[in-house]
Parts: sequence; C-alpha cells; structure tokens
Amino acid sequence: MVRAMAPRFPTQFADLLTPKGRRILEGRDSETCGALLDPTRPFIALQGVIDVKKATQVRDMLDVAMRDTLVTMEDPIPEDSISGMVENYTEALPKTVRVRTALLESRRSRSWRAAEALGLVALLRSDTFAGFAAAVSGRALKRGWGIQTLCYSPGDYTGPHTDHHPEEDDARHGYVDMHVSLTLPAVDHQYLVYAKDGHFSELTKVSTVGGVTVYRLPFWHYTTPLVAKKAREETARRWVLLGTFLDAGPKTRASSTILPSGARLPVQGTTVGRGMEAGRR
Ligand SMILES: [Fe+2]
Repeated sequence: MVRAMAPRFPTQFADLLTPKGRRILEGRDSETCGALLDPTRPFIALQGVIDVKKATQVRDMLDVAMRDTLVTMEDPIPEDSISGMVENYTEALPKTVRVRTALLESRRSRSWRAAEALGLVALLRSDTFAGFAAAVSGRALKRGWGIQTLCYSPGDYTGPHTDHHPEEDDARHGYVDMHVSLTLPAVDHQYLVYAKDGHFSELTKVSTVGGVTVYRLPFWHYTTPLVAKKAREETARRWVLLGTFLDAGPKTRASSTILPSGARLPVQGTTVGRGMEAGRR
C-alpha cells in the first residue's frame, strides 16, 4: 500500500532562517554574534531571523501532530506556604509552573514518535540549530544537547526561578538555552519578565511567530500567564521549541564541539563534564 507522505519539517534549522538569520549563523552579524558574552546581558530576543511564513507552516503542522500527545507539567504553590509560616516576612516560593510538554527524552513516548514522524527531532538535533545558539552566545558548545517542546495554553505560566544547577559540574558555571516561539493567532499576549540590577524590571513579549530567544542561564525570570483573545481560548496556544546547551571545555573533543562560525579552538568555554538531560524548564 502506498501512503501519501505527511508533510515534514525542514531537516536543518538554517532552512527556516531569513537572510538576517543566516548572517548570524555564519558569524557575519557583529551586533548579535557573541551578544551573550557580555556578562550584563543574560538574554537576547531576536525577531526577523526566522521566516514568518515558514514559522507559520511549522507551527500549524506541530499543532496538528503534537497537540494530543502532550503531558501536563504542574508544580503549584505549596499548600502550606501560608498556613505553615510562623515568622513575618519569611515567605519563600519554590518554582511554580503549569504548562504542557512533549516528552522527547524517551523514544517510547507518543510525543517522540509524533515528533520523529514530523521531522521535529531532526530539526532540533540539526547542526545549524546548535550553530545558531553558538553564534549568539559566542561560545563553543557541546554536542548531545537537550531538546524539549512546551505548549502554553490560557493561564499556563512559569513562576519566578533561576534555572541554576549548582549540583552539576558542567552546568554550575552557566549554560545556554535557545527557544523558538510559535504562537497561534488566538493568543493575545505572553511575556517574559526578567531581573536587572536585582529587580524584576525587564519585560519582553514572547508570544511571537518565529521569535528566537537565547539565554545565558542562570538568572531570575518568569513567564506570565498566556492570555487569549476574547472568546478564542480554545485555540490559544504558544508552542516553544527548546535546546539546552552546555559549554564545551578545553578537554572536549573537537568532534563533540559546536563552534560559533568563524571561531577556532580554543574559544571561550570553561567547563568540562557529562551531558545534561533535558527536562529543565
Ligand atoms: Fe526558565
């Protein structure tokens, strides 16, 4: 029996890029390349680097193929966080979250099978996906990066947190995250709020179609609840494609290293160690 091939994603992240996006990937955009080497700049939001028409196609394919495979990830405010408090002004809030995720760590999961059939796994594992993160962060990154897909629906959010991993040798001095936002038209807004000079004073809209955000973690941040346009809650979703990259260190083999375009070994990168599983959010 001959079955029509389902449409698939491009196999390389580079195929989604605009001329501006390609310039960044190729290390030819001095404003953006290496932007995150500046220690006062933990985060950059890029628009116009992914072709909006292609992003829209990818978003719609993702929404059809993956929507029913998602698993809710929920850590509410601890029930005893108020009743259990005995001293004034001692409240402490652990990371709270409600979002749905596609489990891409296990090949047996429904999400992985759907993502593989779609070409999502290949796209997130493509050299140019990591190459783009290396270019913007200005660092040599290790192969074997973590991948994840999230989906925010109305009221989904992530509370204040740092994404610090002090127990992991290869992450405790910092690491790089890259997110691609694919937002459906029924979404009104969602923001990332982050700290500057010790206050949650900075805000950037993340409910974009093809916007790329790159982070040098850890730093304090949170994602505001997604808000739908009036009476359009049913189809208001924001998909996020994520990669989590560890620094390549002096002892990382060249074959296990993704260099920013134009860079030669050794480049900036301070830690060596094991790979880190995805699953951070
Ligand atoms: Fe985070």
